[in-house]
Amino acid sequence: MALKRKRSASKSRPGNRPGESTRVLISRARVRQRVRQMARQIRRDFPDDTLHLVGVLKGSVLFLADLARELGGEVSFDFLSVSSYGKSTHSSGEVKLIKDLDVSIESRTVLVVEDILDTGLTLKYLLRLFEERKPKHLRVVVLLDKFERRIADVHADYTGFTIPNEFVVGYGLDFDERYRNLPDVCILQFAQRPAKK
Ligand code: IMP
Repeated sequence: MALKRKRSASKSRPGNRPGESTRVLISRARVRQRVRQMARQIRRDFPDDTLHLVGVLKGSVLFLADLARELGGEVSFDFLSVSSYGKSTHSSGEVKLIKDLDVSIESRTVLVVEDILDTGLTLKYLLRLFEERKPKHLRVVVLLDKFERRIADVHADYTGFTIPNEFVVGYGLDFDERYRNLPDVCILQFAQRPAKK
C-alpha cells in the first residue's frame, strides 16, 4: 500500500530525549487495518497450512503478535536475531546471525516476518540461509518498505506500507533500543546542532 502522507506536527513527547522529536507517519488505526488485510490475504493463499511465523528480533515482535492474532487457523512462532544498527541510523551492511531458530523449518510453510525492508541485505542473508533448510513454502511479510534504499535484489511477498527514506520508530522499531513501545509508526527527527562560530 502506497502511503498518503498527512502532515502532522513534530512533537517532543514523554520518552523522547532532548534534541529528538517524533512525528506520526502511520497511525495505529491504519496499522491495525492494514495488518488485518494482510492476514486475510495470507490466509487466502494458504488456507489449510500451519503457518510458521519466523520473527526477526526485536523489531518485528509487535507486528508478528498482531498478525498472528488476525491470521486464524494453525500458527506457530519462532524467532531469530541478526546484528542491528545499534546506535546508528545507517546500516553497516554487514549481517551476522546472533540467535538461530529453535526448531527446524524443513517442510513447513514459513513466513519470515520483518519490521522494515531497507537495504534488503538482512533479508537477502536470511532467504539464502532458509532456502537451504528446505521449507515447503518460504514467503516474506514486511510491515514497511523503504524501497528507495534498496541495495540487494529482494522483495517481500506481502508489504504493509511503502514509506519514504526517513528513519522511523515505534510499533516495535527502535533507535538505540528506545521508542519500540510507541503505538504509531513515527518519523524520528534530530534537532540541528547550532553551527560553530
Ligand atoms: P536492511 O538490512 O537494511 O534491509 O535493514 C534491516 C533492519 O534495519 C530492519 O529489520 C531494522 O531493524 C533496521 N532498520 C532499517 N531502517 C530502519 C528505520 O527506519 N528504523 C529503525 N530500524 C530500521
